[in-house]
Amino acid sequence: MPEEALSPIPALLAGADVLVCCGSGGVGKTTTAAALGLEAARHGRRAVVVTIDPAKRLADALGVPGGLGNDPVRIPTGAVDGAGELWALMLDTATTFDGLVTANAADEAQAERILANRFYRNVAGSLSGTQEYMAAERLHALHSDPRFDLVIVDTPPTRNALDFLDAPGTLARFIDHPLFRLMMMPTRRGLKVLNIATQPVLKTIGKVVGGDVVADAVAFFQAFAGMETGFRHRADEVITLLHGPRTRYLLVASPRADTVGEARFFAGRLQEKELAVAAVVVNRCTPDFGAPPARRPRGTAAAALHDNLAELHATAEVERAHVGTLLGDTAIADGTPTVFVPTLPSDVHTLDGLAAIRGFLHDGPSR
Ligand SMILES: Nc1ncnc2c1ncn2[C@@H]1O[C@H](COP(=O)(O)OP(=O)(O)O)[C@@H](O)[C@H]1O
Ligand SMILES: [Mg+2]
Repeated sequence: MPEEALSPIPALLAGADVLVCCGSGGVGKTTTAAALGLEAARHGRRAVVVTIDPAKRLADALGVPGGLGNDPVRIPTGAVDGAGELWALMLDTATTFDGLVTANAADEAQAERILANRFYRNVAGSLSGTQEYMAAERLHALHSDPRFDLVIVDTPPTRNALDFLDAPGTLARFIDHPLFRLMMMPTRRGLKVLNIATQPVLKTIGKVVGGDVVADAVAFFQAFAGMETGFRHRADEVITLLHGPRTRYLLVASPRADTVGEARFFAGRLQEKELAVAAVVVNRCTPDFGAPPARRPRGTAAAALHDNLAELHATAEVERAHVGTLLGDTAIADGTPTVFVPTLPSDVHTLDGLAAIRGFLHDGPSR
């Protein structure tokens, strides 16, 4: 089917190899990412949904009782499945880092030296930026994995959820940084680890974090020597993918003042990185059946129904104003496809519930 014959979400999915779902916590990002995976599978795609959120929400939304791990598992989509497939996983930073080390090491001995290093095991994974970089790295690895042709990313429920977009550039700059070069000196000049740890700058750092930590760190960077080129090259590839023509960014929002403010913040973050919002999903909308007749009917039941409709309509009007503010933001291009998903009677914990959300995403009212 040509893309223009499809409604907005199927068209977006057809034109993407990577789809990043962003938005603030609680608006339904994880639910949307999972439902988009279902929708993609129905269109014959082999989709993998990766969640960067350590909370078990994705497993919950997909109805996977044992939870998800770092390796993709196939989700049995049963009747809703077309010829496509749906897979899911939860990012594990440490395992991803280990894999990167193993892939870039000159030999097994170098990999083992690093993997066994105390600084690497205790500190490297929690350094600021590491988790974000590993998220971007994993996205790249999944994109290259022949099992999948669409990667859907569910970002964490925090304000810095899009920091992974900066991480590859930060890593590249870190590798070029004088301090990093200093740490690498022992191998360059044949110095002992302990000698390098007595360098004035490292001595100062050692007073704060402890001399042992510095010695471990120097040993780590010494073991790392020679791998920086591979890491840099990889970081550049990841940057290229994040800005690639088939990498799309979908903004999930809900029609309330506070969440619209947050959604505009995310749209601004994307704009800073020169990335466009490809579509907006407004989730948890109040269903609107229009304004009730001006005259309130007499009987108690009819009057209650009338009041109910009036209240829904008033709420929906307020929501429309909030959505107007969001779509009017300069960070969102005019005419960006927007799809509305109503609040369902209950939370989404099963594939059936997810299928309902999928249905609204597929052909829900758009503008
Ligand atoms: N349209 C909806 N109708 C009813 N419940 C929803 C809807 N969208 C999301 N939920 C529920 O709201 C909660 C938060 O959704 P989730 O997708 O985890 O949000 P986020 O990932 O943005 O933090 C979950 O319990 C989910 O089942
Ligand atoms: Mg979530």
